[in-house]
Amino acid sequence: RIQDRLAAVGRLASAVAHEIRNPLTSIAGSAHMLVSIPALADEHRQLFRIIVRESERLNQILSEFLDYSRERQYNFTPTDLVCLLEETLTLLPNRSAAPQRGVVITTDLSVPVAPTFADGDKLRQVIWNLCDNALRAMPQGGELRVALQRDSDFWVITVADSGRGISPESIENIFEPFQSGFPGGTGLGLAIVYQIVQAHSGHIAVLSAPGQGTEFTLHLRCLDPGEIPAAAPALAAATH
Ligand SMILES: Nc1ncnc2c1ncn2[C@@H]1O[C@H](COP(=O)(O)OP(=O)(O)OP(=O)(O)O)[C@@H](O)[C@H]1O
Ligand SMILES: [Mg+2]
Repeated sequence: RIQDRLAAVGRLASAVAHEIRNPLTSIAGSAHMLVSIPALADEHRQLFRIIVRESERLNQILSEFLDYSRERQYNFTPTDLVCLLEETLTLLPNRSAAPQRGVVITTDLSVPVAPTFADGDKLRQVIWNLCDNALRAMPQGGELRVALQRDSDFWVITVADSGRGISPESIENIFEPFQSGFPGGTGLGLAIVYQIVQAHSGHIAVLSAPGQGTEFTLHLRCLDPGEIPAAAPALAAATH
């Protein structure tokens, strides 16, 4: 019942987000045209620029929210976490908008291959969101450490940074949407992470204190070679 109610609230929220879009587009478009009036005093032009900038920002929040609240389609296949982590971490220095001056990225993958049953694209997003936050928490530089090891039936991935850390009050609702403490952040990164991890029947936890860095720990069930469907011969071969 609680699930049903939450789903209804979610649908309502996304309907509202949708409805706000059209008038917002008109506001932004009009303000955009007003900015270019030649006779405008500088201070007035500045005010119109603020309207343009803030409506763009609002539009971005709506897009991200709609992206968050839409039903996600999952495509589960046997996936190697070692490969997935290596790929994601290779892209990180080039693609992340977060500051990374003076950041050392270390990886400690204790096994050559780590099969699990997952939607690879969604898990890449999980790792990406965690690493992006870690970089944002270390504007002055530091260490981002990503590790993978096995603990009985689970793969345990840790993403740890030496950044500013998180206060106990913020930790309480850190996986809820729109909880942001980063400048310009929307606060959806970890809410999406949580959704995806849930869909994988996994588990995520966070350990942090202000000034002490932060460590996220992700548990995902191992896929044993015997369980690999015949449709995944490449991965099956890699694990033997
Ligand atoms: N590694 C971290 N170190 C310090 N604080 C963190 C870390 N990860 C998350 N946080 C805190 O949790 C908040 C929520 O993170 P989340 O990724 O959900 O949102 P965001 O990064 O602010 O925005 P978005 O990811 O949507 O761009 C952050 O704003 C930050 O205050
Ligand atoms: Mg984030």
